[in-house]
Order: sequence, then structure tokens, then C-alpha cells
Amino acid sequence: MLIVLNHKMNFTQEEAMAYEKEIGSKIYQEDIVIICPSNVYLPLFQGENYYLGSQNVSRFDTGSHTGDISSEQLKSLHVSYCLVGHSERRKDYFETADIINEKIKQLLKYNIKPILCVGETLEERKANQTKSVLEQDLAICLKGLSRQEKGNIIIAYEPVWAIGTGDVPTNDIIEETIGFIKKYLENQDRIRLNVLYGGSINEKNYHTLKQISNVDGFLIGGMGLDIKRIEKLLK
Ligand code: PGA
Repeated sequence: MLIVLNHKMNFTQEEAMAYEKEIGSKIYQEDIVIICPSNVYLPLFQGENYYLGSQNVSRFDTGSHTGDISSEQLKSLHVSYCLVGHSERRKDYFETADIINEKIKQLLKYNIKPILCVGETLEERKANQTKSVLEQDLAICLKGLSRQEKGNIIIAYEPVWAIGTGDVPTNDIIEETIGFIKKYLENQDRIRLNVLYGGSINEKNYHTLKQISNVDGFLIGGMGLDIKRIEKLLK
């Protein structure tokens, strides 16, 4: 299983250091764990039992872009993965699918694997628009990429209405939507990508979610901040 821990904007430096010191011993070989700390703490997360992920990247190459972090800089900090298209960034920073597409291209140029987050809002689900929304989003986010480049991307299905809310879709809904995403990519490019689920995962629902036949891993926010909680899940 692939497990991505998204720390979002949490922890002081001291807390981040204590977390890093402890987490390594909780990871077992069966799982591939990717930790995405706040970007300022990337240099603190250089352990060997996990991969390092960034929560964001600039859509530009190195140069005059105040406040941005380039793919080249991430690479120099041993970052192997990077979240793109997270709903919080789409909402708070007005990141469009075209911007996400530029970010993906930057990452691939430096051999960093993008973890592309996609998902519908509650209104879109209620209006039966989930599939068309995902299809349109994927088409733009992956525009102009070769089949080989697309092969380096991981997709995270994160319904916007499930992130941080405690509302988790049923296994049937997740399985159907992941199946749809996989089929879409197969039909377009004959590629088979790993697709994760994310949104309100906790130690109680995790074992149920693990039964979904076509899920390749999980993207975890809140629960991943607490080592005691995440330890139960990694076991
Ligand atoms: P959550 O966050 O697990 O706290 O719902 C998931 C995410 O935002 O990726």
C-alpha cells in the first residue's frame, strides 16, 4: 500500500523534529510511506524509511518568482513526490487545471512524481456530474504530456466534500469512481496508474476502506499528524 501523509500547515520546528525522529521506526517494509511536511521543514525530513513529498511547487522554472519554490530546489532537497491540485490550493489560491498542468510539467522535468488530486464537490455529486467533472479536469491537468510522462503520475481521488469533514463516501462509491478514473486513463493512453483515496480517513474507517478492490493507497491529512494514531494504521 502507498500511504501519503499530508501535514498541511501544521507543526512548529520543534514538533516537526520530534515527529521525524519517531516516525521512522513506525514504518514497516510492506508499506511505501510518503511524508509531505510543510515546505519549510523539508530539510528536516531526510530519513531513510520514507520518501519525501512536497505539498506544492511553482509552475515556473528557477528565477524571479518571489515566494515560490522550484522543482529544481525540491529535487536538491531529495523530494521524490509532490502534491498538485489539492482542493485547498484550488480553492484558496485559485489554482486552475491549466496551472496544475504547468506544475506537473515542471515536476516531471526534474523527475519528481506528481500526486494529482482530483475530486468533485458535494453539489457536483448531487447533480450527477462527478464523472464529467473528473474527465474534464484530468484532460486539462494532463494536457500535452506523453504517454511515458503520464506513467509517472499518481492520482488521488479526494472528493472535496470528504476532506476534513468526517464524511466518507461508501466503498461502492469510491470503487466506482476509482474504476472510472482508471478506465478513462486506460482508454485515453493505455496506461494503468495508481489511484489513491483521500478524505477523512481515520483508524476506524481505514480497515473498511482497505477492502476496496481497486484502491492502491491512501492520502491522509488530519490523522497523520498524530504518531500514535498513524502507528495503529501502519501496523
Ligand atoms: P483529511 O485530509 O484526511 O484531514 O480529510 C485529506 C487531505 O486533505 O488530503
